[in-house]
Amino acid sequence: MKSFLNVQDMGDLRQALAEAQEIKADRFKYDTLGKNKTLLMVFFNNSLRTRLSTQKAAMNLGMNVIVLDVNAGAWKLETERGVIMDGDKSEHLLEAIPVMGCYCDVIGIRSFAGLTDRDYDYAETVYHQFLKYSGKPVFAMETATVHPLQAFADLITIEEHKKSNRPKVVLTWAPHPKSLPQAVPNSFAQWMNAADVDFVITHPEGYELDPKFVGDVRVEYDQKKAFEGADFIYAKNWSCPGVTNPGDYGKILHDYHQMMRWTVDAEHMSWTNNAHFMHCLPVRRGMIVTDDVIEAPTSLVIPEAANREISATVVLKRILQSVK
Ligand code: CP
Repeated sequence: MKSFLNVQDMGDLRQALAEAQEIKADRFKYDTLGKNKTLLMVFFNNSLRTRLSTQKAAMNLGMNVIVLDVNAGAWKLETERGVIMDGDKSEHLLEAIPVMGCYCDVIGIRSFAGLTDRDYDYAETVYHQFLKYSGKPVFAMETATVHPLQAFADLITIEEHKKSNRPKVVLTWAPHPKSLPQAVPNSFAQWMNAADVDFVITHPEGYELDPKFVGDVRVEYDQKKAFEGADFIYAKNWSCPGVTNPGDYGKILHDYHQMMRWTVDAEHMSWTNNAHFMHCLPVRRGMIVTDDVIEAPTSLVIPEAANREISATVVLKRILQSVK
């Protein structure tokens, strides 16, 4: 595996889940695979789970790890080509990337959407520059449009907690005071479409996700109807993806005070089949979900986070096996 961005990069999901199970049973089984190999984790944005779980995964495989926080200690990087660099950015990404590639064997990238230029974000410009100019295998640690390590961990978690062969999984939009990217819902939709689940998406009109990720999945604008009979509720906020109106890309379409009926509370969960609550974290309590729902025994937010170590170990193992 030379690139990990989309579910297709993973191949057969049953095989991927079997590897996850193998790693979970013995997370140090491949502890010499990464000997004398170095992972460089490049963060353009903050992180708690991705930073810790991916570093732990690399350590499980015997790798060395370097972490670069681009906005805390490195030169400020210009990412656009053709600009006159007379501002505060001292180095261009097109030199920085091949330099980074000199010091490592594998690169993980966290680079969120800017949410101003839809074409730039949806082309995954920064990720593809790393892939092209580093000369190393590259994987997404949440990029402009996707967060596959999260989606894989979510799939592992659903597999571990499902009570029927084909559970009903609902992705629901929930309110948030800030404009957030679509990476998590995009990847969750893409991976659920590829998995053997009954998948439904619910959100207010105007927040339609890109068809490239959702395919022809059922979108139900009535949240209550969507929740009926659900086995898993996956809550997430996202800003307008700009599918029907590109001018709205990255915007919050309604004042969040008017959208609090979308917050997942006990009444919402009573519409379900005693569903598990899921969220990628970090989560804003009282906005996305109420305290009682996230603290309930049916909440899976901590097992999901724990499975980030497993998904990252499987992905790094695949990459190391391909570069040996
Ligand atoms: N879910 C997730 O990616 O968390 P962090 O942003 O803390 O890494």
